[in-house]
Amino acid sequence: MDFALTQEHELIRESARQFAEKEIKPTVRDLDRAHESDPATLKKMGEAGLMGISIPAKYGGSDTDYISLGIVCEELEWGDTSARVVMSVHSGLHCLTLMQWASEEQKQRWLPDLASGAKIGAFGLTEPNAGSDAINIKTVAKKDGDSYILNGQKTWISLADYADQFLVITKLAETGAKAPYAAFIVDRNTEGFSSRPLKGKLGVRAGNTGEIFFNNLRVPAENMIGQEGDGFKIAMSALDHGRYTVAAGAVGIITASLDACVSYANDRVVGTEAIGKKQLVQQLIASMAKGRDIGRLLYYQVGWMKNTGQRHTREVSMAKWVNCEAAFDAAHKAVEVHGAYGFSDEFPVERYFRNSRGAMIYEGTHEIHTIVQGEYALGYRADKPLANMLPTYPFD
Ligand code: CAA
Repeated sequence: MDFALTQEHELIRESARQFAEKEIKPTVRDLDRAHESDPATLKKMGEAGLMGISIPAKYGGSDTDYISLGIVCEELEWGDTSARVVMSVHSGLHCLTLMQWASEEQKQRWLPDLASGAKIGAFGLTEPNAGSDAINIKTVAKKDGDSYILNGQKTWISLADYADQFLVITKLAETGAKAPYAAFIVDRNTEGFSSRPLKGKLGVRAGNTGEIFFNNLRVPAENMIGQEGDGFKIAMSALDHGRYTVAAGAVGIITASLDACVSYANDRVVGTEAIGKKQLVQQLIASMAKGRDIGRLLYYQVGWMKNTGQRHTREVSMAKWVNCEAAFDAAHKAVEVHGAYGFSDEFPVERYFRNSRGAMIYEGTHEIHTIVQGEYALGYRADKPLANMLPTYPFD
């Protein structure tokens, strides 16, 4: 067993950290206050080569392994959750799912523009009445000649107003298939597509979230990913990738909380000594260090399983569950360390507190992961080998 990161991993960490320092941190408080997202950030990510992480060179990607994607997510979320969300939906939910399920012709058609950042990909599963109960989606696709006609609505869609294309999960009308679901790539410039932003979020206020609508939207059959009936499995596979990026990003919130507290606890003097010398403050800070170290091990393990072609649905659920709770706990404790200053956006920890709460809901709530882990432990749930796997690393 080798726990060492490679020199390439260290370089990727350094450049993602520099990007977060230079391009995210300086503007995030104002954007967050104004509930505004900045589309220029997406362009800058593309220029920095961040949109092609973990995509093979033959499709124009950076040809880096899956652990690299986790490291970039961790560092971007150290800057702000809104920046990591871009990687989660574009690289995790969208690109990795195409790598796992799309035909060679489809990969060649879509991945180069996605890898360069010329196009942004997003994901559409959740609906107003189908969140945790994903199987209950109502958006429907009806075959019509060599196309499908889509009608329905998706909600809580990250990058709803900016993505160029969406991996959309639908039910199929009039099918005899046992699992009547399908997955399509929907181009936003198709007649019948519209989107609108969601306002008033508790956190991730510098990120774009919205609703997307399909009104008699015609998708060519060649945009279907997999076969009729594969849609739900594709959705669940996408979540294996999305949850990985969320789990890695959560470590970034823990690290950011820790950094803020170490700095504050060394500067803030009570009586004759810095508050870092107080054991109750040390206890809060030690707990953040614990969350960071456990969190890294959990997501590195999943990255290694992706590299080596192993199914990791249980492990990624565990990493997402544990890390997101640890991030919320760390951010909560960071507010505590900062006292009244933690209650103000003069310091970043109140933002970490609000942002970290969201990750305990999206990509599987605290309750869903608890139930799923209980079922695995009891032997009621087991991961069978899959017909379609991610390409292993090194890529062909
Ligand atoms: N990969 C491939 N196939 C998978 C799979 C995976 N990870 N997980 C399950 N499957 C397959 C199973 O093998 C099974 O196939 P068979 O019938 O051939 O055996 C089929 O899919 C059904 O699987 P389950 O029996 O596990 O399905 P379930 O109904 O028990 O799942 C659940 C229940 C796990 C709770 C699931 O509904 C779930 O994860 N819900 C949470 C959904 C979620 O996280 N939503 C948030 C999305 S985020 C979002 O949408 C916002 C955004 O855009 C960013």
